[in-house]
Amino acid sequence: MNIITPTADGSNTLYNETIGEHYHSKHGALQESKHVFIDAGLKFASADRSEISILEVGFGTGLNFILSFEYCQANNIKLNYTSIEAFPLTSEVIEQTGYSAYVPEEIWSDFISSYPDALKAPQKLTPLCTLEIPHTTLAEYQTNQKFDVIYYDAFSVQHQPEMWSDEIIAQACSFLKPGGTFVTYAITGKLKRAVKASGFTIEKLPGAPGKREMLRAVKEM
Ligand SMILES: C[S@@+](CC[C@H](N)C(=O)[O-])C[C@H]1O[C@@H](n2cnc3c(N)ncnc32)[C@H](O)[C@@H]1O
Repeated sequence: MNIITPTADGSNTLYNETIGEHYHSKHGALQESKHVFIDAGLKFASADRSEISILEVGFGTGLNFILSFEYCQANNIKLNYTSIEAFPLTSEVIEQTGYSAYVPEEIWSDFISSYPDALKAPQKLTPLCTLEIPHTTLAEYQTNQKFDVIYYDAFSVQHQPEMWSDEIIAQACSFLKPGGTFVTYAITGKLKRAVKASGFTIEKLPGAPGKREMLRAVKEM
């Protein structure tokens, strides 16, 4: 059961009763998504590019997706977005988040009308945007594709430690191209060591409100 909960910046998140955790920071869902994934991830990795592929771990409400879609449309960047989701939300729950307020109307309607089909196969939302949401776990996900960016947005290590094991982090990192960017809201010594061991240069960046630091890592060429 997921319960809609307001966060400190006025945007909502969901509380997942089974896991015992919110989908986003209680200090601000929208702020966190913009800070960690859009600013530190997409803007950093897409400078001077006309095309970008993103692999997200944990699609959830689609907040990271709609903000990425909007940014890429506004900047004329072709976006290929794949997001692994083990427990997809219904369209009704996603509509209840109120996130339609944060993007232009056509971005929201393209997203919400394509969402159910994107769980089954890649969907072309616009000439510049393709969305695919493989309905599987990260451990079971397989692809030959390599991505430019990974948004690692799993529930926290306290609530889902298996999503932060060295093995699963190495698996996620294997889906990135050389020179690709890995971003996540969290940072621990164990995570830094696991990412470094996969051949990355790591950076500690200021975290979103409520977190001192976050991790960005670039895969060595
Ligand atoms: C922190 S939330 C992601 C929030 C999301 N990015 C958003 O903007 O709403 C974590 C997500 O990971 C999903 N998840 C949990 N276990 C998973 C697994 N083993 N593989 C892939 N996704 C998983 C959850 O269902 C949830 O949607």
